[in-house]
Amino acid sequence: MAGNLIAAGSASYVDDDQQGVVRYKHNDMSHLETVMSKLPLSSPKLIVSDGVFSTSGEIVDLPAMVKVAKKYNARVLVDDAHAVGVIGTGGRGTASHFGLEKETDLTMGTFSKTFASLGGFVVGDKSVINYLKHHAPALIFSASPTPASVAAAIAALDILEKEPQRVEKLMRNARKMRKGFKEMGFRVGEHDSAVVPVIIGDTEKVLVMWKHLFEAGVFVNAFIRPGVPPGLEMLRTSYMATHEDVHLDKILEIMSQIGKKLGVIN
Ligand SMILES: Cc1ncc(COP(=O)(O)O)c(C=O)c1O
Repeated sequence: MAGNLIAAGSASYVDDDQQGVVRYKHNDMSHLETVMSKLPLSSPKLIVSDGVFSTSGEIVDLPAMVKVAKKYNARVLVDDAHAVGVIGTGGRGTASHFGLEKETDLTMGTFSKTFASLGGFVVGDKSVINYLKHHAPALIFSASPTPASVAAAIAALDILEKEPQRVEKLMRNARKMRKGFKEMGFRVGEHDSAVVPVIIGDTEKVLVMWKHLFEAGVFVNAFIRPGVPPGLEMLRTSYMATHEDVHLDKILEIMSQIGKKLGVIN
């Protein structure tokens, strides 16, 4: 695992030799290839990316990433915090979504989203997991998760396995909202995940809308600079399988009112 680590997600390409971390442009596999081609073929490398990007809801171009990894002697780590329980067969995540389970060396995830608990996991070859157990400071110097958190995560996993229809309902809900926002004239992310960003492009309007929604009983995440580039200030909305049309229609109605009031939509 030592050696060069390739970290994803940044808009800029920063070569940081001291850390062994090289960034490539967000989900840009041709830039990843350019970066990889400059590194020694024989040195160990790990390509790291979100599976579903947490802000845009975009799904990583894993097929192209795997090709680059093979060509340049690298392994692949996908952070599936926003993908598990959402995409792939029965919500198995990004590798399953693309049928690339064997080619995806490591998948990590959190229990704090789909699993409604705390903690997280890493899945991979036994030898790699064993290495992590003995070398990852976050694991070695941290107390065990509480029994209640573990029990909650296991219960959530059982539900996910037994009731795959919940994943379908979740996707239906997210698609309904994407369509609804779009029809009203909002600028929305087009990616097929449970994260539906509504791009407002103005910090003040984002904060006013966030407050208005909160007071009406709707929780969304406000993303402003420097969390997002200028122009992409947004309300990140995300959905659950337990949302019913009555909830979703109410959110659409409130968004329509406040969007019109602030001149974001007509
Ligand atoms: C892509 C991604 N990875 C990891 C995490 C961290 O999860 P946790 O808060 O459970 O540590 C998040 C949290 O939002 C995330 O979006």
